[in-house]
Amino acid sequence: MSRAREWGRGIPPRRVDLSVRIGSLELRNPVLTASGTFGYGDEYAHVVDLRRLGGIVTKTVTVRPRPGNAPTRIAETAGGMLNSIGLENVGLARFRSEKLPRLAELKATVIASVGGETEDELAELLEALGAEPGVAAFEINFSCPNVAAGGARYWASPSRLEATMRRLRPLSPRPLIAKLSPDVTDIRDTARACEAGGADALTAVNTFVGMSIDLDRMRSRLGRATGGLSGPAIKPLALARCHEAAHAVGIPVIGSGGVAGGRDALEFIAAGAAAVQIGTATFVEPAVAVRVVDEMREWLASHGITRVADFRGTFAAPAAQGCAPADARELAEDRP
Ligand SMILES: Cc1cc2nc3c(=O)[nH]c(=O)nc-3n(C[C@H](O)[C@H](O)[C@H](O)COP(=O)(O)O)c2cc1C
Repeated sequence: MSRAREWGRGIPPRRVDLSVRIGSLELRNPVLTASGTFGYGDEYAHVVDLRRLGGIVTKTVTVRPRPGNAPTRIAETAGGMLNSIGLENVGLARFRSEKLPRLAELKATVIASVGGETEDELAELLEALGAEPGVAAFEINFSCPNVAAGGARYWASPSRLEATMRRLRPLSPRPLIAKLSPDVTDIRDTARACEAGGADALTAVNTFVGMSIDLDRMRSRLGRATGGLSGPAIKPLALARCHEAAHAVGIPVIGSGGVAGGRDALEFIAAGAAAVQIGTATFVEPAVAVRVVDEMREWLASHGITRVADFRGTFAAPAAQGCAPADARELAEDRP
């Protein structure tokens, strides 16, 4: 019998409860927009009713404004895109004085993404913004592949992550979400380090380091040699990292990478994610996140599932299906 049959009879979509908890934060549904792909949110308010989303994760803000990397910053690839934006952002002062008041007017649930080249810089950001009433939670960007300092490689060290989270945790009463890079030997190590340091949740994952060469000009298609790969091309990779991270820690994990429809989102939830983020798909369809909410609701209703929270982690690890490679067996043994 197929797994779907076990879920029972359909129910009206309006009966499905999509609310989820991320630490102390209750979200009306598990769909968030991903940092850097939805501006600061207000730019999209004329096409998307932000109140219909679980929340928006704003563009990573740093203490000082950053101009970002030299062009070219975007290149299309098969099933995805490479970017080397390099954390262009308005800086802390303008984020606080211009962006947060505008988002409060729009009644969006705001998760502010913060980034720093050092632990000190992250501490400065949280000291300044930690008690802002307009910020529901913080996402700490430990995973940007496109900056020369303080990027994914710098933050790939579990001991550095743990020490930094320990220092940041007391600086805000809001949930702190650590956003992880997929480009590490074992994401379980970085996930557990953040949890040990006091993270309330994780986001898995940021973009994968990638390259594209224009052979005729023998030049990178980006202004830098490498960029971050995102979009449908990375979904299977991101799903695997998210599944691993979710089974390694007790805190909620938010899935990110290639989500473009309700079924994609539900794959992440089945793999153990509490919520998902949508990034690149927004460039093709600005209101995609709202469609994803509706599609999730309909799929769950048609399978008789009344609470998305009950669907979380329902995918049984391949070991249980008797076809596991060694790593997946090891993963199943690690389950709490
Ligand atoms: C153009 C662009 C800019 C991004 N900027 C940021 C950023 O500032 N901070 C961050 O944490 N992630 C950033 N990301 C990564 C996304 O938030 C997301 O984690 C990643 O793209 C994978 O999801 P997707 O496949 O749905 O796009 C950016 C991605 C893109 C494509």
